[in-house]
Amino acid sequence: MLFSNLIFLVGTSLAAVSVTDPSDIISPSLWAADNAIIPDYNVSFISVQPNPIVAAYTVTNSASISYETLSTALNQTSVLLVTGELNLTYSTVIKSGYASNLLESSFYGFNAAINVVCFPSRFNGEANDQANGSTGNFDNVNVTVHNGAANIYVYGTGSVVHVDNAWLYSSGPVSHGVYASGNGTAYVSNVQHFSGGKRSSSFSGDSPAGYLHISDSVAHAAGIGSATFYALGEIYATNVVALSENGPTVFMDGAQKAYLTNCETTAGLLGGVAIFSSSTRESGAILSLDNSKITTLGPIPGLWFGNVIIDVSLHASELVTSGVLVVANYSQITQDFDYYADYSQQPNLQPAEVYVNVTESTLVGDLVAYNSSLISWSLSKSSWMGTAYSGFGEAYFDVHLDNSTWTLTNSTMVQNLTDTDGSLSGIESQGFDVYYNASALLNEYLGGKTIALSGGGNAIPI
Ligand SMILES: *[C@@H]1O[C@H](CO)[C@@H](O)[C@H](O)[C@H]1NC(C)=O
Ligand SMILES: *[C@@H]1O[C@H](CO)[C@@H](O)[C@H](O)[C@H]1NC(C)=O
Ligand SMILES: *[C@@H]1O[C@H](CO)[C@@H](O)[C@H](O)[C@H]1NC(C)=O
Ligand SMILES: *[C@@H]1O[C@H](CO)[C@@H](O)[C@H](O)[C@H]1NC(C)=O
Ligand SMILES: *[C@@H]1O[C@H](CO)[C@@H](O)[C@H](O)[C@H]1NC(C)=O
Ligand SMILES: *[C@@H]1O[C@H](CO)[C@@H](O)[C@H](O)[C@H]1NC(C)=O
Ligand SMILES: *[C@@H]1O[C@H](CO)[C@@H](O)[C@H](O)[C@H]1NC(C)=O
Ligand SMILES: *[C@@H]1O[C@H](CO)[C@@H](O)[C@H](O)[C@H]1NC(C)=O
Ligand SMILES: *[C@@H]1O[C@H](CO)[C@@H](O)[C@H](O)[C@H]1NC(C)=O
Ligand SMILES: *[C@@H]1O[C@H](CO)[C@@H](O)[C@H](O)[C@H]1NC(C)=O
Ligand SMILES: *[C@@H]1O[C@H](CO)[C@@H](O)[C@H](O)[C@H]1NC(C)=O
Ligand SMILES: *[C@@H]1O[C@H](CO)[C@@H](O)[C@H](O)[C@H]1NC(C)=O
Repeated sequence: MLFSNLIFLVGTSLAAVSVTDPSDIISPSLWAADNAIIPDYNVSFISVQPNPIVAAYTVTNSASISYETLSTALNQTSVLLVTGELNLTYSTVIKSGYASNLLESSFYGFNAAINVVCFPSRFNGEANDQANGSTGNFDNVNVTVHNGAANIYVYGTGSVVHVDNAWLYSSGPVSHGVYASGNGTAYVSNVQHFSGGKRSSSFSGDSPAGYLHISDSVAHAAGIGSATFYALGEIYATNVVALSENGPTVFMDGAQKAYLTNCETTAGLLGGVAIFSSSTRESGAILSLDNSKITTLGPIPGLWFGNVIIDVSLHASELVTSGVLVVANYSQITQDFDYYADYSQQPNLQPAEVYVNVTESTLVGDLVAYNSSLISWSLSKSSWMGTAYSGFGEAYFDVHLDNSTWTLTNSTMVQNLTDTDGSLSGIESQGFDVYYNASALLNEYLGGKTIALSGGGNAIPI
């Protein structure tokens, strides 16, 4: 059960509700052994779709199925394989049986309960770029999987699934709810998802990209490495209430994009979001929170970034944390998904560079940068109470205030320090000082002077 103060933000009226999810019907405690399975991810890379994909039922052209219960209990076997078009309504799909290769499952949907793949998979080894997309329209469906299987998988350029009014339950590892890869697209609405296993995010993309549009849905993931959204490609989420007990709301590897609007989520491990590059540092990643709220459990930050260059925007949004709003680290997340890795595990690491625009928001908490990482923090029509400090080594911060206030909770050191009013009147010092880099590019207007701040502190050049 997810408890939520608000489900959908409609203007300013917030309805207090409690939200149910599939774990209220099938207790995860019944599937504890399944959920404890650690997937073997030391398998060799595959670059071509293996053939054949095995399924109990295969739709090669088009079909419409209603009021049926379909199932299989075989290993490495889907219940339904669609290489064409399937409309499935008012039906139940039940899948058990183990996957035999994590990468076949992740990149090509092997062992998924429902696998919608572009056409060439029915021809042996035909090149993907000759593919035509497949389509799945799923309405009023109940998909239950055990032993580690995605609920609904969509693969290939031009392949699209619409998942409406669905109830998705999974146990076992790598059991994502709706999973798009190979440039596939999923439109998801009015879905409830629960996963109990490891690395089983509710809504996931995979290599080279998946595009997911999720609205009016509820997601609850319990296992380590299981996020609400695993962005590899693009995530567009609106009106989603979610809990990730042992993962962040958003995992993102590389230059991906995630847009959350009117979402309320809770995250229990690594950060409210955990965004990184798993090989060389990538730039061009985007995170946007609009009218959304992320709450973190325990001592984890609201937003965590490592080895990545990213633009972040927070509009009318909240981060509820035990103290740290943003971390920019010289670090990444490994396949274990449960700690922040260092240089000894990844020789390509570089500092994170995080550019954040905050508009019409009220935020409380600190910014922490490690080992030459940068947080550029720009507030417009907003207020922030907190400070900025180094977690390790050099730490760089820019602070820009536009019709905004910064209430200091400790003295700090920044690079660029700008306020659109030109007099730093937006800083409420509470007796603390802000040291600024007198030679930073945008600080010329301060004339290298010590400037008295409201509340007794000073802005002091160094
Ligand atoms: C991964 O598998 C390879 C080949 O099967 C093996 O040599 C290597 O030791 C394994 N690595 C780990 C970390 O288990
Ligand atoms: C599936 O549903 C869509 C939309 O209702 C319809 O256009 C299409 O013809 C249906 N396809 C089949 C195979 O029934
Ligand atoms: C199915 O997979 C499980 C777990 O890997 C294995 O123990 C079992 O023997 C497999 N069953 C068959 C019929 O191969
Ligand atoms: C893709 O669609 C085109 C046009 O409809 C058709 O000519 C071609 O054979 C299709 N390719 C495959 C692999 O089905
Ligand atoms: C979905 O199906 C599973 C397995 O048959 C069942 O236990 C569950 O109650 C069903 N969910 C709903 C909402 O009917
Ligand atoms: C995905 O898109 C890329 C870039 O357009 C393309 O090279 C690749 O073949 C596509 N993959 C699939 C599985 O469609
Ligand atoms: C922040 O806002 C400025 C000014 O509107 C814009 O130029 C910049 O691209 C924005 N950056 C991000 C990270 O959204
Ligand atoms: C920062 O990264 C280092 C490794 O470089 C790691 O040991 C440390 O736990 C990380 N801390 C946070 C809060 O990210
Ligand atoms: C800090 O960065 C340097 C490279 O500039 C690297 O050698 C070192 O391992 C990093 N230390 C930590 C704790 O991240
Ligand atoms: C500052 O913001 C308030 C509302 O938050 C607005 O009424 C006012 O016009 C803004 N002032 C400037 C100078 O932008
Ligand atoms: C304030 O900053 C100083 C210097 O970095 C540090 O030693 C001190 O612990 C900080 N105080 C609080 C309350 O965080
Ligand atoms: C200050 O801001 C400018 C403009 O964004 C940037 O080029 C520069 O790197 C920042 N930092 C310093 C120390 O000048």
